Amino acid sequence: FDSSNRETYRPVYHHTPVYGWMNDPNGMFYKDGVYHLYFQYNPYGSMWANMTWGHSTSTDLTHWTYEGTAIVPDAWGAIFSGSCVVDKDNTAGFGKGAVVAFYTSAKSTPWGDVQSQSMAYSLDNGKTFIKYEHNPILTSTERDFRDPKVFWYAPGKHWVMMLAVGQEMQIYSSGNLKEWKKESSFGAMQGTHGGVWECPDLVEVAVEGSKEKKWVLICNLNPGGPFGGSAAQYFVGSFDGKKFVNESPTQTKWLDWGKDNYATVTWSNAPAGRCIALGWMSNWQYANNVPTTQYRSANTLARDLTLYRVGGELYLKSKPSPEIKKARAEEKKIPTFEVKGNYEVASLLADNKGAYEIEMTIENKGTSKIDFSLMNEKGEKVAMYYDVVRKQFVMDRSASGIVGFSRDFPAVTVAPVRNTDQIHLRLFIDRSSVEAFGEEGEYVMTNLVFPAEPYNRMVFSSDKGSYIVKSMNVYRLQ
Ligand code: FRU
Repeated sequence: FDSSNRETYRPVYHHTPVYGWMNDPNGMFYKDGVYHLYFQYNPYGSMWANMTWGHSTSTDLTHWTYEGTAIVPDAWGAIFSGSCVVDKDNTAGFGKGAVVAFYTSAKSTPWGDVQSQSMAYSLDNGKTFIKYEHNPILTSTERDFRDPKVFWYAPGKHWVMMLAVGQEMQIYSSGNLKEWKKESSFGAMQGTHGGVWECPDLVEVAVEGSKEKKWVLICNLNPGGPFGGSAAQYFVGSFDGKKFVNESPTQTKWLDWGKDNYATVTWSNAPAGRCIALGWMSNWQYANNVPTTQYRSANTLARDLTLYRVGGELYLKSKPSPEIKKARAEEKKIPTFEVKGNYEVASLLADNKGAYEIEMTIENKGTSKIDFSLMNEKGEKVAMYYDVVRKQFVMDRSASGIVGFSRDFPAVTVAPVRNTDQIHLRLFIDRSSVEAFGEEGEYVMTNLVFPAEPYNRMVFSSDKGSYIVKSMNVYRLQ
């Protein structure tokens, strides 16, 4: 068993567990300047088991401190995914400003799995939790009945709980967080149903360039993602406190065009005007087999969500949360160059440790392919290109390094792109991941990679015509 890579792949500016296994982000809330992040955690091994809520905190969404385990398994079962709210008005009676956590108690029995919803509250800002004495608060005979997301619906002065149940989302309401009434369900004839629906979220998101806001239902599903395995779809529409109505039922909208952004949910009680999302940067197809041994999995970069309109449709924009700019330690500006045939930036950074950002603006001068690959001295590469004819951004990680641990890992992922005449792209590389944000987040692609050494070259090429890389800035991130 090779343990030589214990820390090689550990990201620098993404959250990871110090040791042990992690999956979904859970219970995120913001209070008194601190971002809290809980996560599906196995503190006893680096594969999925013993589900517990781990806890980390941050003041900049980039650097995290591990706070220990917050909610541990009990007689009702393991602690599956869920959410937290800050009960400012003490509607539950646990205390003013109590942090109340909702999670799924999941028990495997010889006669099948039993899932129910439970609750716990914290009187010390999320450090320790006391389980509610009358758990569970919601039961069902459904096998897949989980991942409560709770939020305050101000116009109706009541709480709302979203639950993933089989291949639908159910909506419940409550005045006191303890007693819940089913209001509606959403799912039939909507979106993609390649697998079970999980980890719901329902958030009000600002439409750019207007005063308007729309409700967005985030729906993670596994399997059934566009490139296999787990992925997140979303629906845009309206919500009256009881029922969500999808505006365009015939379309499936994907949150991310890579293979490794799952279980995405947003921060509760976020700073005014912001909707901040975070995903688990892996895929159930191979999450248990990725070549890290000390720990497994990282989260995506935090992303600020807004809506933008194309024709009659609204789509989510995922921008890297602005806090990441504070992680820039050093800047290297590469002078403008034209690519006609081949061109190479032979060194991205001196002493490249594998944690950096590349920001580029590109102007097309008549080529049909704007091709650029990240490469290392071992010849491993992440190939990327814009297909001008098909209006696509493509990333191919099949020769990116270690890929053989799963037949589902080598992959080519594709994002639709509106415009390939003028391109703005930010690439975030953090040892074992590449996140590409195009046009300020109009499309985002998140993929894991496991190179033998950092990629420190970028090899450009064009097809027939040329293109100009008008600006290329490389930032070391720390
Ligand atoms: C999603 C998920 C959730 C569940 C959790 C268990 O990745 O399957 O539905 O609560 O993981 O760890």
